[in-house]
Amino acid sequence: MIDNFGREINYLRISITDRCNLRCKYCMPEAGVSNIIPHDQILSFEEILRLTEAAAKLGISKIRLTGGEPLVRNSIVDLIGRMNDIDGIDEIDITTNGVLLADLAEDLKKAGVKRVNISLDTLDHEKYAEITRGGDLNKVLAGIKEAQRVGLTPIKINVVALGGFNEDEFGDFIELTRDNDISVRFIELMPIGSADVGENYRFISNEEILKRFPELEPMEKEKFSVAVNYKLPEAKGNVGFISALSNHFCAECNKIRLTSDGKIKPCLHSNDELDMKKVLAEGSDEEVLEALKASIGYKVEHHKLNEGAAPISRDMNKIGG
Ligand code: GTP
Ligand code: 5AD
Ligand code: SF4
Repeated sequence: MIDNFGREINYLRISITDRCNLRCKYCMPEAGVSNIIPHDQILSFEEILRLTEAAAKLGISKIRLTGGEPLVRNSIVDLIGRMNDIDGIDEIDITTNGVLLADLAEDLKKAGVKRVNISLDTLDHEKYAEITRGGDLNKVLAGIKEAQRVGLTPIKINVVALGGFNEDEFGDFIELTRDNDISVRFIELMPIGSADVGENYRFISNEEILKRFPELEPMEKEKFSVAVNYKLPEAKGNVGFISALSNHFCAECNKIRLTSDGKIKPCLHSNDELDMKKVLAEGSDEEVLEALKASIGYKVEHHKLNEGAAPISRDMNKIGG
């Protein structure tokens, strides 16, 4: 479907849970799960599948499952298998922290997942435990290895750039792309919800990172990609920059989001949400389709963070990025 600003909307991000087995400092407030969404408000798989069917009829062809951490939701493999049978859905991807991936990668691949994006902000064990408030880096590294083995590829590694935390490792992350067919993507820290990284970590623009690595060569821009990609000469993989603040990509935005409590978010940085729960409970398939269509009509032209707008109130773990 084409929205009011001429953008083709073909990508639906579905947050299937707000729960997570980590507590990343830029994502969740210190209190963590204290404000978790009660189970009875979380969409059932039947509701998610019904909404996905309607979305496919409107031209959505790509689904990304997110969280919280999507792999902590029971029976995710069944959900994906059923989603994969929906006419018009060509691609199902997952964004995960990778902690449970070593165990699940093979089943996910068999169920129809095409590829995974993995969040990993440091290659140092102690720093990993610090930023995630207790995570075990070994599990993620094993998950990446297994995802590569079963072909959930090309893998993208999401690195939130944090001055005072991982800036000394940017070069190491870039080096990983020399011999591996992976994409390492630096993400600018976005102000979202009540998470606050405090005084110790500082926003770094992607431009600043690029200046430090003049050997990176620009690649052709991929249609719909939020990342601008570069490459080391002769490298197997590439390096992406997701600059949601310094150089936003709203003009090419092709997505809408579904939260685990059944709200469509037409824009990540807007508080506008459309509640689909009632129409899913009481409405006909036609009414579900019309409600979804209406939600695309609410997509704003671009976010206003650079013009002083306040961050949205929902926390990141309740959206999924
Ligand atoms: P690909 O399908 O591989 O292109 O994945 P993706 O980049 O769409 O998904 P991923 O979950 O890996 O997101 C990477 C980062 O980009 C996360 O920090 C997201 O919050 C951010 N991001 C994705 N889409 C948008 C968007 O529309 N607006 C903003 N501001 N950030 C986005
Ligand atoms: N700013 C930028 N990226 C974030 N992510 C989570 N919170 C933030 C934030 N405040 C990233 C995660 C994950 C992706 C879905 O979003 O690291 O890779
Ligand atoms: Fe969990 Fe992802 Fe948030 Fe980290 S960024 S706490 S892994 S949902």
